[in-house]
Amino acid sequence: MEMDVMDKQLRLDKYLADMNIGTRSEIKSWIRQGRVTVNSSPCLKPEVKVSTDDKITFDGQKIIYEKYIYYMLNKPAGVVSATEDKHYKTVLDLITTKKRKDMFPVGRLDKDTEGLLILTNDGELAHSLLSPKNKIEKVYYAKINGRVTEDDVNAFSSGISIGEDKPCLPAKLDIILSDDISEINLTIYEGKYHQVKRMFKAVGKEVIYLKRISMGGLILDPLLNPGDYRRLTTDEVRHLENIILQKKEQI
Ligand code: URA
Repeated sequence: MEMDVMDKQLRLDKYLADMNIGTRSEIKSWIRQGRVTVNSSPCLKPEVKVSTDDKITFDGQKIIYEKYIYYMLNKPAGVVSATEDKHYKTVLDLITTKKRKDMFPVGRLDKDTEGLLILTNDGELAHSLLSPKNKIEKVYYAKINGRVTEDDVNAFSSGISIGEDKPCLPAKLDIILSDDISEINLTIYEGKYHQVKRMFKAVGKEVIYLKRISMGGLILDPLLNPGDYRRLTTDEVRHLENIILQKKEQI
C-alpha cells in the first residue's frame, strides 16, 4: 500500500535502519563519517528528516525506502506462528535476510502444521486478510487417519458443527485418495482455532498431516521447501489487495 503524504518524514538514521543497512548506532557513525548523501550532498546529521522523494545513498549506492515488506514462508512443523516465544523457535526466527523489526505472521498455523504463511509489517492488509467478514479462502492439503467419504463431503458442504454457537461456513472437501489413510484438499472461508482438525474430529476422523497450500488465491510456491521463504512479487501483493477489495464490495 502507498505511503501517505502525512507519514513521509522520518529521520535519516531510521530510514537507513528500516532498510537494514546496519544497526542504528552503526548507521549514526557512518552518517557522521560522511558515507551517506541526501540529494547528492553528504549529510552528517542522523536526525535530519527525509522523505521518500529524497535521493539517499550509502557508500554511493542508492537506498530506496520500502514502507511495507511481504514474505511467503513455507512454515515447517515444530515452529510456532508468533513473533517471539520462550520455548520454541518462531516463524520470525526463520527470516534471516532483510528482516524488519515490525514484521509479524498473518494469522496462525498450529505448531505441527506446515505450509503457506504470509509475513508482513502491513497491519491493514493483515487485518483485512484475517477479518471473518471478508471470508478469505484458505486451502489445506491433509492426510486423514480413516476413509474419507462422500458423506463427509456432504457434511462439510452443508456446514458442520464443531461445538461453537454457529456451525462452520460451507466448506469444499475434495477427496484425492480414500483409503485407510486418506488424502484431501479442503477449502474453508474462516479461521477458527484448530478448524480443520476439529472439522474432521466432528466426522470421527483424525488429521495426521496438515499443510496450507493457498490463502486468498495466493499459492504456496512449490519451490519453497519447509523453512524456506521469499518476497512476494508485486503482482502477488496486488492480487491480495484486489481480492480484499472484491470481498469488501461483496459485504
Ligand atoms: N486448521 C487447523 O486445525 N490447524 C491449522 O494450523 C490451520 C487450520
